[in-house]
Amino acid sequence: MRTARARARSNIALVKYWGKRDEKRILPVTGSLSLTLDELWTETEVRFTGAPGEDELVIGGTRATEHEHRRASALLDLVRDGRPELGAARIDSTTSFPVAAGLASSASGFAALAAAAAWAAGDDPSDLQLSILARRASGSACRSVFGGFAEWRRGEREDGADSHGVQLLGPDEWQVAMAIAEVEAGRKEVSSRHAMRTARETSPYFPAWEAQTAIDLEQAREAIRRRDLESLGRVAERSAFAMHATCFTSEPPVFFWKPSTLAVLEAVRTLRAEGVAAYATIDAGPHVAVLCEAGQLGRVGEALRKVDGVRRVLEARPGPGVERR
Ligand code: DP6
Repeated sequence: MRTARARARSNIALVKYWGKRDEKRILPVTGSLSLTLDELWTETEVRFTGAPGEDELVIGGTRATEHEHRRASALLDLVRDGRPELGAARIDSTTSFPVAAGLASSASGFAALAAAAAWAAGDDPSDLQLSILARRASGSACRSVFGGFAEWRRGEREDGADSHGVQLLGPDEWQVAMAIAEVEAGRKEVSSRHAMRTARETSPYFPAWEAQTAIDLEQAREAIRRRDLESLGRVAERSAFAMHATCFTSEPPVFFWKPSTLAVLEAVRTLRAEGVAAYATIDAGPHVAVLCEAGQLGRVGEALRKVDGVRRVLEARPGPGVERR
């Protein structure tokens, strides 16, 4: 019996991934760029039993849903390909934050699963190979293989061999942080997978999104190189709002925001008016992640906690890439 355990952190995109050019291989329409966060992690153990049968997946002590089970087994099948002797897997996963509330749990979850599965199978993949494996399960997971600032290169090849994450800056190379305002509990109503497909297929704004993202990526890379928080923050807000504009203009339209989402955005603008460099980004959910200087994290967190409808604020710093435990 072969066992391995891995911990991976979530990442929050500053230039969003939104839309696939290949749904099966999970190849994106554009590149994207993110910050991996220390406090938001998933730790996963994979054990190959060596016997045929059904995989078993437990998340936070509870049996996984049918949907989660299917996606995990599909990733394991990539690892087991041509090696039936590995057999069924037992997977045990723990997450430090609420799953599927729109806090990027699929990124840490599938990055940890990809690494634990490959290691349990006795493989010794490079980070790029792990990133490609994680990408096949969930696009954003390919960035969580890397710590600090990471970019998912779009790639050109049809087989996806050049579509993977790369590290731009290690977690200790720039003292930034993120405060994440959780505005509503519970599972989200529309998955990012579904919403991005609808946006690509139906939003008249999608071509504009694609063109603008190439520019945003370039500017974000340059801002990171210069450690220019204001430039990076402005690009991040623009990218998030452009992504959500493709949702508002989808057929049928998708609104991830709640009234308290807007209230948090207002608080971020107030912080800026008071001289605090704070910039918002929003994934496929109602929560708002706010990028700031590490030294301002306490102040930003405090301001967000005062906003009506905010349930909880997580304070997070840049974290490392996937680790063996
Ligand atoms: C809004 O990586 O969850 O968080 O590839 O279909 O699994 P799939 O999608 P997923 O989408 C993440 C979308 C996003 C933006 C981002 O993380 O870049």
